[in-house]
Amino acid sequence: MASNMTFTMIKPTAVKNGHIGAILNKINEGGFKIVALKLTKLSAEKAGEFYAVHKERPFYGELVEFMSSGPIIAAVLQKDNAVEDFRTLIGATNPADAAEGTIRALYATSIGENAVHGSDSDENALIEANFHFSGTDMFV
Ligand code: CMP
Repeated sequence: MASNMTFTMIKPTAVKNGHIGAILNKINEGGFKIVALKLTKLSAEKAGEFYAVHKERPFYGELVEFMSSGPIIAAVLQKDNAVEDFRTLIGATNPADAAEGTIRALYATSIGENAVHGSDSDENALIEANFHFSGTDMFV
Protein backbone atom coordinates (compact mmCIF):
# COMPACT_ATOMS: atom_id res chain seq x y z
CA MET A 1 0.00 0.00 0.00
CA ALA A 2 1.42 3.37 -0.98
CA SER A 3 1.21 6.71 0.83
CA ASN A 4 -2.21 7.35 -0.74
CA MET A 5 -4.03 4.96 1.67
CA THR A 6 -5.10 5.07 5.27
CA PHE A 7 -7.25 2.93 7.56
CA THR A 8 -10.04 4.08 9.87
CA MET A 9 -12.56 2.68 12.32
CA ILE A 10 -15.72 4.43 13.50
CA LYS A 11 -15.73 3.39 17.16
CA PRO A 12 -18.61 1.78 19.12
CA THR A 13 -20.03 4.92 20.78
CA ALA A 14 -20.15 6.86 17.50
CA VAL A 15 -21.88 3.90 15.81
CA LYS A 16 -24.34 3.55 18.73
CA ASN A 17 -25.08 7.30 18.66
CA GLY A 18 -26.05 7.15 14.98
CA HIS A 19 -23.07 9.02 13.54
CA ILE A 20 -22.00 6.55 10.80
CA GLY A 21 -23.63 8.51 7.98
CA ALA A 22 -22.40 11.93 9.14
CA ILE A 23 -18.83 10.68 9.60
CA LEU A 24 -18.73 8.93 6.21
CA ASN A 25 -20.05 12.16 4.69
CA LYS A 26 -17.22 14.17 6.30
CA ILE A 27 -14.77 11.59 4.92
CA ASN A 28 -16.18 11.97 1.41
CA GLU A 29 -16.30 15.76 1.67
CA GLY A 30 -12.64 15.64 2.78
CA GLY A 31 -11.76 14.19 -0.61
CA PHE A 32 -11.22 10.58 0.46
CA LYS A 33 -12.42 7.67 -1.65
CA ILE A 34 -13.74 4.71 0.35
CA VAL A 35 -12.12 1.59 -1.16
CA ALA A 36 -13.14 -0.92 1.55
CA LEU A 37 -15.96 -0.74 4.11
CA LYS A 38 -17.70 -3.01 6.63
CA LEU A 39 -19.82 -2.99 9.77
CA THR A 40 -18.30 -5.56 12.11
CA LYS A 41 -17.59 -6.31 15.78
CA LEU A 42 -14.17 -7.06 17.23
CA SER A 43 -13.72 -9.81 19.82
CA ALA A 44 -11.67 -8.75 22.85
CA GLU A 45 -8.87 -10.92 21.47
CA LYS A 46 -8.90 -9.18 18.06
CA ALA A 47 -9.16 -5.69 19.64
CA GLY A 48 -6.17 -6.56 21.85
CA GLU A 49 -4.23 -7.71 18.81
CA PHE A 50 -5.11 -4.58 16.82
CA TYR A 51 -3.95 -2.28 19.64
CA ALA A 52 -1.02 -4.49 20.77
CA VAL A 53 1.35 -1.55 20.29
CA HIS A 54 -0.35 0.06 23.34
CA LYS A 55 -0.10 -3.07 25.52
CA GLU A 56 2.07 -1.43 28.16
CA ARG A 57 -0.05 1.73 28.42
CA PRO A 58 -2.30 2.17 31.47
CA PHE A 59 -5.41 2.57 29.29
CA TYR A 60 -4.87 -0.64 27.26
CA GLY A 61 -7.44 -2.77 29.16
CA GLU A 62 -10.06 -0.04 28.94
CA LEU A 63 -9.31 0.48 25.23
CA VAL A 64 -9.68 -3.23 24.42
CA GLU A 65 -12.90 -3.51 26.43
CA PHE A 66 -14.37 -0.45 24.72
CA MET A 67 -13.36 -1.41 21.18
CA SER A 68 -14.96 -4.85 21.61
CA SER A 69 -18.13 -3.48 23.26
CA GLY A 70 -20.22 -3.05 20.11
CA PRO A 71 -20.22 -2.81 16.34
CA ILE A 72 -17.68 -0.64 14.54
CA ILE A 73 -17.17 0.50 10.96
CA ALA A 74 -13.81 -0.46 9.42
CA ALA A 75 -12.74 1.29 6.22
CA VAL A 76 -9.78 1.83 3.91
CA LEU A 77 -9.50 5.31 2.42
CA GLN A 78 -7.64 6.56 -0.64
CA LYS A 79 -6.31 10.10 -1.22
CA ASP A 80 -2.95 11.72 -1.89
CA ASN A 81 -1.15 12.17 1.45
CA ALA A 82 -3.92 10.08 3.06
CA VAL A 83 -2.42 9.38 6.51
CA GLU A 84 -1.57 12.99 7.32
CA ASP A 85 -4.66 14.52 5.70
CA PHE A 86 -6.96 12.10 7.53
CA ARG A 87 -5.34 12.89 10.87
CA THR A 88 -6.03 16.58 10.15
CA LEU A 89 -9.67 15.78 9.27
CA ILE A 90 -10.25 13.82 12.51
CA GLY A 91 -8.41 16.19 14.88
CA ALA A 92 -6.42 15.55 18.07
CA THR A 93 -6.72 12.24 19.96
CA ASN A 94 -8.33 14.07 22.87
CA PRO A 95 -11.53 15.71 21.57
CA ALA A 96 -11.00 18.54 24.07
CA ASP A 97 -7.95 19.51 21.99
CA ALA A 98 -9.46 18.77 18.55
CA ALA A 99 -9.82 21.71 16.17
CA GLU A 100 -13.31 23.02 15.49
CA GLY A 101 -15.13 21.17 12.72
CA THR A 102 -12.95 18.04 12.94
CA ILE A 103 -14.65 14.65 13.27
CA ARG A 104 -13.50 14.19 16.87
CA ALA A 105 -14.56 17.73 17.86
CA LEU A 106 -18.02 17.00 16.42
CA TYR A 107 -18.63 13.38 17.41
CA ALA A 108 -16.23 12.20 20.16
CA THR A 109 -17.29 12.00 23.79
CA SER A 110 -13.88 11.48 25.49
CA ILE A 111 -10.24 10.60 24.76
CA GLY A 112 -11.06 6.90 25.11
CA GLU A 113 -14.30 7.09 23.12
CA ASN A 114 -12.92 9.44 20.50
CA ALA A 115 -15.26 8.54 17.60
CA VAL A 116 -12.65 7.40 15.05
CA HIS A 117 -9.27 5.78 14.67
CA GLY A 118 -6.80 6.91 12.00
CA SER A 119 -3.52 5.19 11.05
CA ASP A 120 -0.39 7.03 12.22
CA SER A 121 1.95 5.97 9.38
CA ASP A 122 1.90 4.44 5.90
CA GLU A 123 3.40 1.27 7.35
CA ASN A 124 0.65 0.94 9.97
CA ALA A 125 -2.06 1.80 7.42
CA LEU A 126 -0.99 -1.27 5.44
CA ILE A 127 -0.88 -3.50 8.52
CA GLU A 128 -4.26 -2.25 9.78
CA ALA A 129 -6.01 -2.52 6.38
CA ASN A 130 -4.77 -6.09 5.99
CA PHE A 131 -5.86 -6.87 9.57
CA HIS A 132 -9.49 -6.15 8.61
CA PHE A 133 -9.73 -6.83 4.87
CA SER A 134 -8.55 -9.41 2.38
CA GLY A 135 -7.12 -8.11 -0.88
CA THR A 136 -10.27 -9.00 -2.80
CA ASP A 137 -12.35 -6.77 -0.49
CA MET A 138 -10.20 -3.69 -1.17
CA PHE A 139 -11.10 -1.90 -4.41
CA VAL A 140 -7.93 0.14 -4.91
P1 CMP B 1 -6.72 5.70 18.43
O1 CMP B 1 -6.35 6.68 17.37
O2 CMP B 1 -7.70 4.65 18.10
O3 CMP B 1 -5.37 5.00 18.96
C1 CMP B 1 -5.19 4.54 20.28
C2 CMP B 1 -6.32 4.91 21.17
O4 CMP B 1 -6.03 4.86 22.56
C3 CMP B 1 -6.68 6.36 20.94
O5 CMP B 1 -7.27 6.51 19.69
C4 CMP B 1 -7.55 6.65 22.15
O6 CMP B 1 -8.91 6.31 21.93
C5 CMP B 1 -6.97 5.72 23.18
N1 CMP B 1 -6.28 6.51 24.19
C6 CMP B 1 -5.19 7.26 24.03
N2 CMP B 1 -4.86 7.87 25.18
C7 CMP B 1 -5.79 7.48 26.09
C8 CMP B 1 -5.99 7.78 27.45
N3 CMP B 1 -5.17 8.59 28.13
N4 CMP B 1 -7.05 7.21 28.08
C9 CMP B 1 -7.87 6.38 27.39
N5 CMP B 1 -7.72 6.05 26.08
C10 CMP B 1 -6.69 6.62 25.45
